[in-house]
Amino acid sequence: MNTSHPLFLVGPSRNPAPVALSAFASPDELDPLLLQFLERASERLCSWIGGAGERGPLPALRVLPDAAPEENGRDMNQLLDDLQQVMDGAYQPSHPGALAHLDPPPISASIAADLICAGLNNNLLAEELSPSLSHLERQLCTWFAQRIGFPNGASGVAASGGTLSNLIALVSARHQAGLNHNPDAVVLVSADAHVSWQKAARVMGLQMDGVRAIPVDQEGGMDVEQLEIELAKLSEERRPCLAVVATAGTTVRGAIDPVSSIADVCCRLGLWLHVDGAIGAVFALSTSTAHLLHGISQADSITVNPQKVLGITKTSSLLLVRHKNALSDAFSTGLPYMEPSLEHHHGGELGLQGSRPAEVLKLWLGLRQLGESGIEQVLSAAIARRDYFQQQLDSSKLQILSGPLHLLACSPCGPHAQQDEQWSINTRRLLLSQGIMLSRPTHQGRHFLKAVLGNPHTDHALLDRLALALNESVETLH
Ligand SMILES: Cc1ncc(COP(=O)(O)O)c(C=O)c1O
Repeated sequence: MNTSHPLFLVGPSRNPAPVALSAFASPDELDPLLLQFLERASERLCSWIGGAGERGPLPALRVLPDAAPEENGRDMNQLLDDLQQVMDGAYQPSHPGALAHLDPPPISASIAADLICAGLNNNLLAEELSPSLSHLERQLCTWFAQRIGFPNGASGVAASGGTLSNLIALVSARHQAGLNHNPDAVVLVSADAHVSWQKAARVMGLQMDGVRAIPVDQEGGMDVEQLEIELAKLSEERRPCLAVVATAGTTVRGAIDPVSSIADVCCRLGLWLHVDGAIGAVFALSTSTAHLLHGISQADSITVNPQKVLGITKTSSLLLVRHKNALSDAFSTGLPYMEPSLEHHHGGELGLQGSRPAEVLKLWLGLRQLGESGIEQVLSAAIARRDYFQQQLDSSKLQILSGPLHLLACSPCGPHAQQDEQWSINTRRLLLSQGIMLSRPTHQGRHFLKAVLGNPHTDHALLDRLALALNESVETLH
């Protein structure tokens, strides 16, 4: 077998194939070149993950291979070297000090399923392009919906990330409210809600004040009295409310809005309630944490992002809806160039995406690898890690923002509060030099350092070191 020539010259059982054609694996027998490519690429990936502890979460700056293809295709060895260069410059979520964002290490079954997904190259656009996978997506959405407490008849769709799930939810809500052509419609979110709502409002052509922020209380949850006041104001202004969004797990501190009370208000006024559970909704799967999401089953739609804590490879987000038809009512166009779907609507008629990969595969296999007990362990360990870390921090020096989940943000308090920006820059840099990566969000006009404690490789010794560095960092301020 000649692997030094651009791509692979000899097809297994046929005449020498043109270079481009040999890039496609043989449909007649196990293609040795595909197998070798996958084996060697997998080996490099495993080494990259296995060597994570030796480097930091962020690589040093590196030169990348050319982006453009060359005149003639490159051979496997060259391609693997190109890949290696990109891998060496990648963010490393498996490093124990990778604590900056909601991007945990991926679990093994999810990585394998992503590989299979690429090889299957099915398309969730239509049933005939993904018969088993379309069915699997419906089944898994139903399972999630049931676990979250939705009634029979609930369903959902996978979307490429929480931003998209939120947008699909809002478009569906607007459709159900009969407000598709009313640019005056308003969506109410908490002051700590995610920026994806701003994006959704722009895409949907809402007015500049089409997303209104309701103040939050001390714990970071939406103030329900203020919600009622804003709703009364909207009615005076004759501006229709298209939906209220409760956040289950805010981006900076992981606070959970009082979903049950918000649901009561929505129910009384006949308003659509969306729960943005991109961070928190998965905690409803665990018996030890489900109580944190009390009231979530009263929502009309829920965003769930298993990519953010369970180690499912990106992207993995589901939008669940209480009423099955909510999605197809808003998005169904018919697909006149496809055979009918078993379920009346194709996967491409349930949301904004047309062609899309079978992201459900890595979620399904990942959950099955973890099992109920593994899910429970991952979730409760993340919260326990945050709890432990919080106890090590000196609250006389640091303002600590946290909630019941696995996120914590802090900033100097007292006489040093004014130096928050410089403190956050210097301290982040110092921590990076020690192999610990935190993020540097701004929140209510102040700069914070944020830790997301969802990384299962982070042990107490690392958290002790981190807490000590943070406590001491305040003392170095003048
Ligand atoms: C509360 C919340 N909602 C939505 C999103 C958007 O999710 P994604 O990054 O998957 O688009 C995020 C992202 O961090 C988030 O924190």
